[in-house]
Amino acid sequence: MKNFTNRVAVITGGASGFGREFALIGARLGMKLVLADVQQDALDSVKAELEALGAEVLAVRCDVRHADQIQALADATMARFGAVHLLFNNAGVGSGGLVWENTQADWEWVLGVNLWGVIHGVRIFTPLMLECAKTDPEYEGHIVNTASMAGLLNAPTMGVYNVSKHAVVSLTESLYQDLRLVEAPISASVLCPYFVPTGISQSHRNRPDDVANAARPTISQLAAQAMSDKAVSSGKVSAAAVAEMTFAAIGSDQFYVYSHPQALGHVQKRMEEIITQTNPGDPYAGAEHVREMLQAKLKAGA
Ligand SMILES: NC(=O)c1ccc[n+]([C@@H]2O[C@H](COP(=O)([O-])OP(=O)(O)OC[C@H]3O[C@@H](n4cnc5c(N)ncnc54)[C@H](O)[C@@H]3O)[C@@H](O)[C@H]2O)c1
Repeated sequence: MKNFTNRVAVITGGASGFGREFALIGARLGMKLVLADVQQDALDSVKAELEALGAEVLAVRCDVRHADQIQALADATMARFGAVHLLFNNAGVGSGGLVWENTQADWEWVLGVNLWGVIHGVRIFTPLMLECAKTDPEYEGHIVNTASMAGLLNAPTMGVYNVSKHAVVSLTESLYQDLRLVEAPISASVLCPYFVPTGISQSHRNRPDDVANAARPTISQLAAQAMSDKAVSSGKVSAAAVAEMTFAAIGSDQFYVYSHPQALGHVQKRMEEIITQTNPGDPYAGAEHVREMLQAKLKAGA
């Protein structure tokens, strides 16, 4: 996708972090913007921020876990702007801890937002975008799904999140192949950030009641929360810089987008382990203090 001016971008999780930064760049490029998020006050404030920059904005309260709400988002977008060119399936949440200690509610919440949200987005918006392409000879479209480096690696105490993000990488590669197969004027990218300062480690702020946990967090869940708070808040690459990289990738039709290419050595090592049937190595090699911190907290609480 080369031309952004006057084109329509839909951004889930648009009220914070990467989503807000995508919207700010979209506004700068003269795009019409649709923001979808569960947090109404944050949605209102980003909408006002974008309108102050002169952008046309539709803000929709939408829980991406639910197909009917994504359908309503698509309908509202078409009613207001008449087309969709750029879709960011970006809303996401995290929940940590030893994988056998995660509750069914943890799985339903994280897979509901991180995976089903992307599935609904792809299933409902891709046919719509293909229809838009039929009526516009100049049409260009692009779908960006936000996965994570956790979609390419499997660090301990991040199991539910890892599963959700591996599935998003797979879904996006599949989407890319299918779009190529039908020679659609639409492409796809998968964004795989490492730890970047955003609201992600506080995602429980928007955890809905229907997936609330009755019990208090376990020791491993508290340890994982402390690890994620520290890793996210001390990230050195900004969300704004990651959003810039993502728009550059859309412009050059680059599929894999990494915030920290230096972390790819771990991915290469994992791929080699798979091919050579070597047991999984330590994902914290080179950052042993993280493993030590987790183990110390687990032992102290045992
Ligand atoms: N920040 C990081 O370190 C990092 C690393 C890898 C991947 N990611 C991914 O980036 C994406 C964006 O997260 P972020 O880091 O900007 O965090 P963030 O918390 O700042 O933004 C996420 C947004 O998603 C919204 N959201 C949560 N549940 C929702 C739902 N059910 N429906 C609609 N919106 C919902 C939140 O209200 C929030 O506005 C997520 O998919 C996350 O997993 C983040």
